[in-house]
Order: sequence, then C-alpha cells, then structure tokens
Amino acid sequence: MIKKNTNFNNGIPLTNDTWDKKEINSIFKTLKSGNLTQGEKVELLEKNVSKFHKRKHCLMLNSGSSANLVGVSSMKLHSKLNLKNNDEFIVPGIGWSTSYSPFIQNNYKLNFIDVDKETFNIDTSLIEKNITIKTKGILAINILGNPCDFKNLKKIAKKYNLILIEDNCESLGAIYQNKKTGTFGLWSSLSSYYSHHISTIEGGFFLTDDDELYSIAKSIRSHGWSRDQESKKYFNTKNISLEKQKFLFYYPGYNIRSTEINAAIGIQQFKKVNKFVKNRIKNYKKVKKIISNNRNYYLQKENGLSSWFGFGVIFNTDQKKFRKILDIFKKNLIETRPIVTGNFTKQPVMKYYMNNKKSYKLKNCELIDKYGIMFGNSQKLLSLKQIKLIILVFNKINKII
Ligand SMILES: Cc1ncc(COP(=O)(O)O)c(C=O)c1O
Repeated sequence: MIKKNTNFNNGIPLTNDTWDKKEINSIFKTLKSGNLTQGEKVELLEKNVSKFHKRKHCLMLNSGSSANLVGVSSMKLHSKLNLKNNDEFIVPGIGWSTSYSPFIQNNYKLNFIDVDKETFNIDTSLIEKNITIKTKGILAINILGNPCDFKNLKKIAKKYNLILIEDNCESLGAIYQNKKTGTFGLWSSLSSYYSHHISTIEGGFFLTDDDELYSIAKSIRSHGWSRDQESKKYFNTKNISLEKQKFLFYYPGYNIRSTEINAAIGIQQFKKVNKFVKNRIKNYKKVKKIISNNRNYYLQKENGLSSWFGFGVIFNTDQKKFRKILDIFKKNLIETRPIVTGNFTKQPVMKYYMNNKKSYKLKNCELIDKYGIMFGNSQKLLSLKQIKLIILVFNKINKII
C-alpha cells in the first residue's frame, strides 16, 4: 500500500498494516458498485465516527490536514465568532506543519509557546502570561496519542473567553476524564493516514457540535456550494429554482472531499478501532516496564488515557552519545523518527510565522527536538522477540550513556 521501509521488517517498524481481507474486499465491492464519489458510505462512516465521539456532527475529508483547514476557515465565516484578520491564537511549539498552516492561510497570527517536557503537550501554565488583547483562541494538539491538560485549558478558555480547538489527528481513542479526545474543542480534527490508528490510505475527519460551523464546513468541503445541507437555515435559497440551487455558491470553498472507496475501507477499519487502541495500550504497558525508573531517559508521560500513537523517549545525554543511541536503534532494527516535527519554531517555514518576533526560545521543545525519538507502536501486539529486542537496545544504551 505504501513503500515500506523493509529494513525494519524483522525488528520494529514505525508502522504496520492495519488491513485484512475485509478492507480489500470492500474496495472491490465498492468498485463494482460503480458509486465511487462521495456518497452513502462516506455518510455512514461519518455517523460511526460521530457516535464513537458522542459529537453531533462529523465530516469526512481527504486528510487530517484538510480537517484542520476546514475548521480554521469555517471559524472565520461563522456569524457569532467575530474573528478578524490578525487575530491571534496560542499554539504549542510541537505539532504538525498543517496544524498551523491553515491559520496563516486565513490571515491569523500564531503565538508559539513551550510544551511540558514530560507529556510533550502544550504547557498550560504558560498560557495566561501569553494572552494579549488580540488573542482569540488556543489550539490544543494531543501529541502521540496523549490527551492535553483539558481541565486547565477549559478553565483558561472560559476565563478569557477564548475559543478552544483541538488537533486530535494522532490521538484517536484517547480518553481524558471519561471523555474521548476530540470532544473538548469547538471543533477537532482526526487523521486516518496510513501510519495512524486507523487507515483509509489518506483521510481525515472534522468534528463539532456547532450547527452553523458544521454547515459552513460542509459547504467549504465541496466548492462552497449550498448543496447537500440538511438544513437551509444558513443558506437563503428563497425564490431560487431547484435547478439553480444545485449551483449556488455561498462561501469561498475548496474541494477536499473523500471517496466511497476510502469510506468503505474506513467502515471496516472503524469496526476494529476499540481493539486497535486496546492492543496499543497493552504494548505500552510492556514498553513502560522496560523504559522506566532510569535517570538516563524517560518515556512520554501519560495524561489521562493515551492511545499510544508511538513511543516517545527523551535521553539525558549529549549530542555525540545521542548519535550513538540512534545508531544502536538502527543496527538492532528498531526504526525511529523525530517526535512529530521536533521544535517547529526551528523549521525553515517559520519565516512565514514570525510576525514581528525575532526568535522563539522554547526550552522544552528544543530538548524534545535535540534528544527525542519516537519508535513505533501499532495495533499488532509486540511479540516476545520484539520485547527482547527493546530490552537489548536499552541495555546497550545503558552501557554507553
Ligand atoms: C498533529 C497532526 N495534525 C495534523 C496531521 C495531518 O494529518 P494528515 O496526514 O492526514 O494530513 C498530522 C499528521 O500526521 C498530525 O500528526
């Protein structure tokens, strides 16, 4: 399905296939049906994803990035949110590139703040001192399956009348105070890209309880037209013929829809989501035993119930030894990668985000960037051989660190 890094097949790759015959059969069945563009299957999957999260509305899109785009763009057009160009959002310095880019494409400004060095999520103790007259919202990104500190986030958002939004692209199935992540923000995004908890090859979901936001997002997903709306409340179609109503454009839209084939795969995948998440948690329990009680490194600290996208580890060491550590992983066939994008404020793209700022100094983002790695978790239970491999690798690390 994708070009896999086969070098790690006998060890621990970053990702594993989540499909079996059911997904493959559903593709052929859909192809034979002849109904390929967005239709009933997309709608059914949206209902399943809504129900899972106990959220009123869900839209399937062609990626998690598009879910972020549709969320940020719809807010600007919402009649009650009163958002304007140059309004500011507080965001964490660890996130994905497309957690942020929709904001500048909609003429907002971002203020990047540091993350907690143990949970890797936005450090809520830094938010209040960063709020200015321009601040209109906070973006919470649940990193590697780990829920943010929503208790504080909600408290601060309420106190300062800020919009809380949630990028949940890498944290499907995580739970915080008995609620699924993806249910705390005005809207949230999910990704079903190949390496995520469920895979529709490419895919994403936008979730909200707000009727107007949903209507706008649905319109924006398909060219900005008024077609397919359950309610015409937000679209004045009076005195317009049914023929013309099919081609009535209300909002500056895109085409970021998915297809019936992707949805058919997603319907099969979603039947297994609880099992997938359970197995990821079982793997975590084993890995935690190996990587705990050691002052040379630590595993990402869980906040609530993480759905363990991967295993993020930070090493207390220097650059020379860190390079050796990376080498030990590689030689022993455990594939690693940086934690999300590392310190995003150090990325070349930051020149587009700097506003009047000269630089950001985010200490914990820098630590995670310099001394952090992630190795893979998946819905497949770790074998005894794989557990032994992790033990071996950390024993080797213990000797050099
Ligand atoms: C936090 C976060 N946001 C957004 C995305 C974008 O999702 P997609 O790859 O489906 O566009 C990702 C992808 O990995 C992500 O990790």
